[in-house]
Amino acid sequence: MNAFPQTIHFIGSNTPRRLEISVRDLEVEGTIPAEIDGAFFRAVPDNAHAPMFEDDIALNADGMIARFNIENGAVDFDIRYVETERYLAEKQARRALFGRYRNPFTDDPSVAGKDRTVANTTPVWHAGRLFMTKEDGRAYEINPHTLATRRKWDYYGALKSETFTAHPRVDPITGELFFFGYEAGGLCSLDIAYGIADAEGNLVSEQWFRQPYCATIHDFVITQKYAIWPIFPTTADLDRLKSGGAHWAHQQELESWLAIMPRYGSVEEMKWIKGPPGVSVFHEVNAYDDGDLVHIDLCLTDTNAFSFMREAGGIERDQQSLQGALTRWTIDMSKADPEIVERPLGPPGDLPRLADIDQGRPYNRAWYLSMNPQGGPPMPGGPVGVNFNALMRIEPGNGRLSVMGVPPGAALSEPAHVPSSDPAHGGWLLMVVDIPNGPPGVPSPDYSSELWVVEADEVEKGPVARVRTGLALRSQVHGAWVGRTKLDASKLK
Ligand SMILES: [Fe+2]
Repeated sequence: MNAFPQTIHFIGSNTPRRLEISVRDLEVEGTIPAEIDGAFFRAVPDNAHAPMFEDDIALNADGMIARFNIENGAVDFDIRYVETERYLAEKQARRALFGRYRNPFTDDPSVAGKDRTVANTTPVWHAGRLFMTKEDGRAYEINPHTLATRRKWDYYGALKSETFTAHPRVDPITGELFFFGYEAGGLCSLDIAYGIADAEGNLVSEQWFRQPYCATIHDFVITQKYAIWPIFPTTADLDRLKSGGAHWAHQQELESWLAIMPRYGSVEEMKWIKGPPGVSVFHEVNAYDDGDLVHIDLCLTDTNAFSFMREAGGIERDQQSLQGALTRWTIDMSKADPEIVERPLGPPGDLPRLADIDQGRPYNRAWYLSMNPQGGPPMPGGPVGVNFNALMRIEPGNGRLSVMGVPPGAALSEPAHVPSSDPAHGGWLLMVVDIPNGPPGVPSPDYSSELWVVEADEVEKGPVARVRTGLALRSQVHGAWVGRTKLDASKLK
């Protein structure tokens, strides 16, 4: 059997496409500014085979690396599978061999012990190399010019952690990459590895510590002084996995935590600060030092945003009933026992983006995606089953908000920011917009994917250029912009 289930994880913009293709000179409406010169890499989960189980989820799909290459106003598109150990084993067998999301006890016995990661979450550029990452395994290195998979990345054998986050943070001034891995010592272990790679891409530090429970730690933040892990009570359990159950279950009664240490310090210096119970965050926008204060800006919800993680924890909540806000947590590090002071910054949403130069520093603007109730019914699809339909630009200092909508029923993917060399210009955003060809809100595989180019500081004006792919692309997770100078200096040619 090689047929896909007709669940929310395989319909709408989650319809499997499975095409490894290249298209040159896409149709461009409007003019792409000449300064936009480089590649927009995108991580797209897309099953190479129908899943072993009917209740499979979009996050379990094979990673594809997609690229819009933009040069002199012309755009080429390419997409290829990341050739993970898992992808290659299944390609040879011509069927799925790996079972439920992050549960090796549901795999075909022929793949026991094989690496399960699908490298489907974030393209990461550091020190002249492109990686595809997913937090349940190590990164895979990709040739940025051919999109061929080169190898699994372990820092020339130096990395001890079995896992590598899909959300490392690069300091824009030092060029260092700060990263972590949770379940670093194996499935359901409490071990967290904290690593630093220098600007040349060498692993210069790896320290391990333990978290209070085995939580999914999807993202973390740095400031100029600190490394900070916000930890939320969505937990793994080995016995549940052994019985074939879900990796993650949200615990509504359990407290959250902030773990904070000097970013160049020792894990022995870690402070643990208790946070509110039951809340959930997958992405932080940014964090920065303000004297002794540390501000951490998060996309906070009152419970887990993924229905399958709520259901596994016995939580019955409709997706529409979730409450949340873009939220600032502030702590005073001059105190022996700092406490979290919380205040809302903006409307709920997720998939936040920052200009690279603002990472870990005071910042005056960011972008994220949200739902516009006036925008008509959203397109079904994406990792949580419902797509975003509004792009927000927020000034966190004063709460000033501007919004870009999309055509009725259209879906927005996470934008990437392209800086301008003109300090007076705020740069641009690139993002894929899926526009239904039929009535809005209907889970149809029939839509047209476009790449929109938007002035980053004038999002309310809408796109300055629309690039038509002529394709319906499967929902992306995260993306990354890499300018031409960096691409030309890549380690792989
Ligand atoms: Fe993420």
